[in-house]
Amino acid sequence: MDYSRREVIACGSSRIVNRLPEIGLDTAVDGILEGLACSPKRISSRYFYDPRGSALFEAITGLEEYYLSRTEKALIEALPFEAIAPAPDLDIVELGSGDHSKISLLLGGVSARLLSGIRYVPVDISCSALERSIAALARLFPALEVEGVVADYFHQMHPVSSGRRKLFCFFGSTIGNLSRKEAAAFMRDIAASMESGDSFLIGMDRVKDVRLLERAYNDSRGVTAMFNRNILSVLNGLLGSDFRPEKFEHRAFYNRSMKRIEMHLEATEDMTVGGGVLREGIPIARGEAIHTENSHKFDEGDIRLIGEAAGFDLRQVFSDENRLFSLVHYEKP
Ligand code: AVI
Repeated sequence: MDYSRREVIACGSSRIVNRLPEIGLDTAVDGILEGLACSPKRISSRYFYDPRGSALFEAITGLEEYYLSRTEKALIEALPFEAIAPAPDLDIVELGSGDHSKISLLLGGVSARLLSGIRYVPVDISCSALERSIAALARLFPALEVEGVVADYFHQMHPVSSGRRKLFCFFGSTIGNLSRKEAAAFMRDIAASMESGDSFLIGMDRVKDVRLLERAYNDSRGVTAMFNRNILSVLNGLLGSDFRPEKFEHRAFYNRSMKRIEMHLEATEDMTVGGGVLREGIPIARGEAIHTENSHKFDEGDIRLIGEAAGFDLRQVFSDENRLFSLVHYEKP
């Protein structure tokens, strides 16, 4: 994550544009300090994704307990592409593209003729993830035009007028990591970036049995715990601080009234975290928890209302037979 330099990076025959400097490191640091000054303390889940965090997340997506990714992938693979792709000349903008596995499944069923009219724009906060997926896509789909964008898409959505039809994709139920209010604002921003007839395909994890939900965030191999603790190492890199991740326990549980999984890091002893911009240090008491993530779950009513509130038409909801996960197709009227 380079917040300091705007640059265009050549990546094979494609390119990556870094837009993080529009936010700036100072704004990111101010936001982190504000969260640490809150009671209870919190850290935005966007700081999970340094190269190690991205690799740990990729490992999570392969876990038996984490049903989300494989269920969504099966839905993407079975999707009738023509039903959601509004035109042959198409920009597919994937927000939070991560690895290339989902877009590859979506494009796998597209004919070579249609593929040559598609421009793929993956947008991600991780430059290394973009570089890897652009290289892999060049091998899998040599005719595909690709332009990567490094950006914090939650805060850097701008109207994109390319004169072509657009399909926005937002997979993985990442919308669940926003508060309900932020999610509503995000949906409005997406709608504002679209023109009449453009489509939005979004993955949403569904409300379900609490045991299934809690298992997915408390895996037996402790990968989610490592992923959670890694956020403190990311903060050390950004703030110059001396958090000791091993002094925190991973906690994840379902909050029924909020319809969300919450992740926290609980201090195992009294400590003072200092160093870098933390200067005199922040005291943290044994048992005190830092809130690191919310992962909201959606029912049929949420799916309808969240689209309606942003002015979308709900075209179709694709769900697996156990109704664990949904791919939702909205259209801008
Ligand atoms: C990226 N996001 C949708 C994941 C989720 O399920 O909320 C992040 C994650 N956190 C713990 N495990 C996976």
